[in-house]
Amino acid sequence: MRILFICLLACLLLLQVVAFKAEKKAGILTPREKPVEEERYEKFRIQHINETMDENSCDSEIRRKNIYEKNRCKTINTFILADENSVKSICQGEKNNNKKKTRSKQKFRIVVCKLKKPARKPKCQYEGIKLTNRIVAVRCQNGLPVHFDGDILNFEN
Ligand SMILES: *[C@@H]1O[C@H](CO)[C@@H](O)[C@H](O)[C@H]1NC(C)=O
Repeated sequence: MRILFICLLACLLLLQVVAFKAEKKAGILTPREKPVEEERYEKFRIQHINETMDENSCDSEIRRKNIYEKNRCKTINTFILADENSVKSICQGEKNNNKKKTRSKQKFRIVVCKLKKPARKPKCQYEGIKLTNRIVAVRCQNGLPVHFDGDILNFEN
């Protein structure tokens, strides 16, 4: 009788260990974190995509979105005036993870915000310029834009 009881206890313990391992494998205990490129894209989206951005809103948008370089003002920040999907499509089928610049096939309207004079957060004053027909260069990571590299004037138009 006693041996039976000990056996039962051992069995229960074993079951718990097995269940714990299964849960861990299924990611129930440690929720899977977002892939790194999704987090980087999220940051890119906030900093660089706004379909309705206008050139007079640099100061307020940059402040609202908390775009700084540590405690200093960022010297330049560009907003692409397009919907998310058109911007994402720059990286479609792009396998060069982060290593080289990818140029957009599509041309975009952009607002370039240039810092007027060096200053500290949050007293950043920008001059905004709207440009059209720009090819933009980004870095892609697993099919998502994660870094803005600049814009290129397209002369063939
Ligand atoms: C885009 O910029 C405008 C100002 O030009 C602002 O009112 C709007 O909230 C911004 N949209 C997003 C999605 O950040």
